Amino acid sequence: MEITPSILTADFARLGETLEEAVDAGINWIHMDVMDGNWVVNRTITFGPALIRSVRDRLGPEVTIDCHLMITNAEETWKQYADAGVDMVIAHIEAVDDFPTLIAEMQQVGMGVGCVLNPDTPAEEVIPLLPELDLVLVMSVVPGKGGQSFMPEVENKVRAFRAAIDEQESAGGRKVKLMIDGGIKDHNAAMVAEWGIDIAVVGSGLINDRGSIAENLAAIKVALE
Ligand code: DX5
Ligand code: ZN
Repeated sequence: MEITPSILTADFARLGETLEEAVDAGINWIHMDVMDGNWVVNRTITFGPALIRSVRDRLGPEVTIDCHLMITNAEETWKQYADAGVDMVIAHIEAVDDFPTLIAEMQQVGMGVGCVLNPDTPAEEVIPLLPELDLVLVMSVVPGKGGQSFMPEVENKVRAFRAAIDEQESAGGRKVKLMIDGGIKDHNAAMVAEWGIDIAVVGSGLINDRGSIAENLAAIKVALE
């Protein structure tokens, strides 16, 4: 299982250094959490395309960057994130009226397409889209902030996606990555890896006052062994 950092608990004044520290520690995928002050329940604002552009320019083309859009009107504004240099846009199934059209538009410009669902949204709402997706993201917290507690009740949903993705791949269909986001730490990483997760987003478990990113990542890797 791969690990990708969420930067919500970072000191934004030294974000460049923090991300370079992550890359030096072996990270090759960065997860950017975009909130617009409207869509998440606590009305948080994080950052937008300008900051993502700076991160892309600083890290160069080798690092994969996804943006997790927790915003209204993703249908209208996703292209700003594509122009900011992300490799993949991950949009919420709950926030987009016509997801198949959004997928088609993103594919037209060669953008990787991810679909994310909230803890209380059933897998059935996303499974019909699997043939066209590059990634499914299962939220294991209610989106809105870093540092929340992991919700173990998403296990069955993760396993349902794992089975559906494996079935699609063995029938020669598109390879879809399965990601989880929220509350992942060294103590539960091995459990979600066993559920079949390919990539875990880790925010406060990686970027915190307890240790360096390299130390925190090493602890997660030990737990995964
Ligand atoms: C929640 C975000 C997550 C979160 C991860 O709205 O999408 O990426 O910040 O942070 P931790 O790992 O601290 O739950
Ligand atoms: Zn996220």
